Amino acid sequence: MTEVARVLYGREEVRRRVAALGRTITGEFAGREPVLVTVLKGGAMFLADLMRAIDLPVEVHFMAISRYGDAEESLGRVQILLDVDADLAGRDVLLVEDIVDTGLTSRYLLSVLRARGAASVDLCTLLDKTARRIVPVQPRYAGFECPDAFVVGYGLDFQERYRNLPDIVEVTDLAALRADPAALEPHLRPAA
Ligand code: IMP
Ligand code: MG
Repeated sequence: MTEVARVLYGREEVRRRVAALGRTITGEFAGREPVLVTVLKGGAMFLADLMRAIDLPVEVHFMAISRYGDAEESLGRVQILLDVDADLAGRDVLLVEDIVDTGLTSRYLLSVLRARGAASVDLCTLLDKTARRIVPVQPRYAGFECPDAFVVGYGLDFQERYRNLPDIVEVTDLAALRADPAALEPHLRPAA
């Protein structure tokens, strides 16, 4: 890895943290059957690991949204492209997000889900970038406090790249990445 990026949370640390979140959720939702709602595409990897760490009957649903403008700018104006196709009335819903940045996306999705008569709606995010918050969103569960930096890997992308990196990587030279979106590629593959 070079000065362009550095590992922020390695795969083993992520695995341990996700397992701990799963245990906490299992304890706090004991006796209930939570509905996990994940936002594509970034949340998919976190969901896949988190759901296997939850020892309860769970349902899984996906939403897809589109943002107007560059996702990096987190403008928060979203359109629902794929919606939950289940009745959420009376259910315990857990919105599973990859990262909460400004909070605009989560606030919008939480309000959409709450309008459907769920018994409870809570937020679980892998990364909580509190320094960038514009609206007050307080996740009930957060994997890691994320520094005010752009991160990729473990589901998170830059222009659709790097979602498949097993580690969570901090981009230290965003200008280099903007100039060449493939700039991280040579540095992130294991030497074998
Ligand atoms: P928010 O509405 O500003 O909270 O934005 C949340 C969304 O912005 C996330 O679901 C990501 O798609 C994107 N995002 C925010 N910060 C990052 C980052 O550091 N890396 C990759 N995507 C990010
Ligand atoms: Mg993105």
